[in-house]
Amino acid sequence: MATSGVALKLYPPLFLRLEEARSRTDRLFDLLPPNSFYDRPVAERNRLIFYLGHLEAFDWNLLAPALDLESHDPAFDNLFSFGIDPVGGGLPTDEPGDWPNIAQVEKYNWRVRDRLDENLRSSRAQLSADPYLKDGTLLQTAIEHRLMHAETLAYLLHNLPAERKTPQAAAFADPRPAPRRRQATIPAGIATLGQSRSAGGFGWDNEFEEQQIEVPSFSVDVFPVTNEEYLKFVRAGGYEDPSYWEPEDWDWVRRGRVAHPRYWVQRSSSRAADPDTQWEYRAMFGTIPLPLSWPVYVSHAEASAFARWAGKKLPTEAQWHRAAYGAPDETELAYPWGSAPPESSRGNFHHQNWDATPVDAHPAGASAFGVEDLIGNGWEWTSTPFAALPGFKRSSFYPGYSANFFDGKHFVMKGGSSRTDACMLRRSFRNWFQPHYPHVYATFRCVEE
Ligand SMILES: [Fe+2]
Repeated sequence: MATSGVALKLYPPLFLRLEEARSRTDRLFDLLPPNSFYDRPVAERNRLIFYLGHLEAFDWNLLAPALDLESHDPAFDNLFSFGIDPVGGGLPTDEPGDWPNIAQVEKYNWRVRDRLDENLRSSRAQLSADPYLKDGTLLQTAIEHRLMHAETLAYLLHNLPAERKTPQAAAFADPRPAPRRRQATIPAGIATLGQSRSAGGFGWDNEFEEQQIEVPSFSVDVFPVTNEEYLKFVRAGGYEDPSYWEPEDWDWVRRGRVAHPRYWVQRSSSRAADPDTQWEYRAMFGTIPLPLSWPVYVSHAEASAFARWAGKKLPTEAQWHRAAYGAPDETELAYPWGSAPPESSRGNFHHQNWDATPVDAHPAGASAFGVEDLIGNGWEWTSTPFAALPGFKRSSFYPGYSANFFDGKHFVMKGGSSRTDACMLRRSFRNWFQPHYPHVYATFRCVEE
């Protein structure tokens, strides 16, 4: 029977990947002592206990209908079903006591895993009429969803004070100097965004269909903007001058008293712009002197203000593609360095490090035009609002995944961070965030047209 053939061919590697993804998220929760599960390290997000239940609830809600399984706990399926992303206020107000205890959530999780694993390996899976179960799409969705949360959980844990985490080796300083600023010229050519459905590869709904865009010649920074370069903007009074900011971004700066990047710590002086002010950096497991050679992590609002101050712009999504995947011979590559799969010499990704590395640490990851550090070490902001590519169709099994964010209030990010799994470094993958969310490992580089 055709379906069992598909299952035999596809599922064993997907089962292994699911197991690996589960062990990654399990290890993240091991960084939390029990009394930290009810903390809310980022005001806009749920308490950490939500994520403990969410990963299994998502898998259950996705896979149980295709397997025709009855829920053993509809209340938990619902409570842990969706995360939150409030734009412009409206912060969550729930209390720790509103959530179940850890043991109840863990019991729910083990039951979900056992039932899904048993049924995915049974004739029930092979007899399912759901085409997305049969072709492995649902399992791939569960795997990538979990790995995305492995990354966003790292942002949340980064924002948890060190004493609220299980003790780890202390962070150490990185004294390497930042490289000299350079630009690369990118000739006019085609950038191919997205991917074609007919090619048959896995992708989230916003990655379809393929779109080709003609991009005029432009120049682009060879490296992302470093902490050292961004410090010049801070010292130039960048956070005190509304002329660098969009009106709603300036409002965010004033209301939140934002005076520097989220992960910087001001150690002296009352004014960020004072040249004598001492800066440190809040790394994942401790505070270190500001690492000047690392990419600066900032919100879209801050990246845009820096670009305006520098007399430059953020790249469009198409310009970023062109700088990353274009080549002088008019071909387009799968990765900046070519077609070889991602490995550690190419960039800081796939859970290798908890923090950034110098922007010039991975010359083997350079694009055909000599642009470096494009994949990993921090997502890169573009000026392109997140929107559908031509031919977009909502996913039938997760209709809100992308379409809920096609609101002109989120911007496309490309590349990846140190915590992005290698499977999501494919060319068509698009990430997005709202412009006033400073907790993401997101950096930027500038262009001139
Ligand atoms: Fe989720």
